[in-house]
Amino acid sequence: MLKILFYIVLVGVVIGLLSGGIHLYKVSKRNAAEMSQYEGLSIAAQPFPGKTLVIYYSLSGHTKDIAERIQKMTGGDIYAIKTTAKLDRYPWFYLNLKRQLSTKKYPELEGNIPDLSQYDTIFVGSPVWWYTMATPMYAFLQKVDFLGKRVVPFSTQGSNVGTFFTDFASLARHAKLQKSASFNNLPDKYNQAVDNKIAAWLNSLN
Ligand SMILES: Cc1cc2nc3c(=O)[nH]c(=O)nc-3n(C[C@H](O)[C@H](O)[C@H](O)COP(=O)(O)O)c2cc1C
Repeated sequence: MLKILFYIVLVGVVIGLLSGGIHLYKVSKRNAAEMSQYEGLSIAAQPFPGKTLVIYYSLSGHTKDIAERIQKMTGGDIYAIKTTAKLDRYPWFYLNLKRQLSTKKYPELEGNIPDLSQYDTIFVGSPVWWYTMATPMYAFLQKVDFLGKRVVPFSTQGSNVGTFFTDFASLARHAKLQKSASFNNLPDKYNQAVDNKIAAWLNSLN
């Protein structure tokens, strides 16, 4: 009996590892195909019109990295959304965040919403959590009104944005939405290509 159970578990583990490996392989192939159009180039971002602000939430640094590149290329200001309580990677972390999403009990945010009145274009970025925006971004959008502002959403994710951008569009009050961009987590070898992707996107917004 114990032997049968052992083999059942073993087969489960092997299937899990295999499908995980196939998924990662497919994602890396898709990333390579997308980024090939930006490799070996040096696209310069044209001067961005008006005053810009980049607002972002980032838990592990990917969105921060993209936000800082956008800020550098647009020459604007930057604002990090922070939660009052630290969202540590304790056990059940993923499930707790899923519960925050399903119950709409979003984390409390630190500090005041920045004064948007002086900006023409506002970039707003978040990681994808469970195929939608991160819960601190939900909390932020509840507090902000983008009346009269050009708003440019962006995401970072492993591979699947889900309903991120339609969810953002339905909650970004009075935003004049512009073309969004999404950034899969990539190895360092794509560093320059990511800069090129951002520059090409920014130039298309001008
Ligand atoms: C709770 C949680 C859920 C996630 N869900 C998704 C998802 O649905 N799709 C996806 O492609 N990546 C998902 N990811 C991966 C993150 O979107 C990705 O690593 C992102 O770049 C992290 O951004 P950050 O480093 O700025 O926090 C998830 C990560 C976490 C922590």
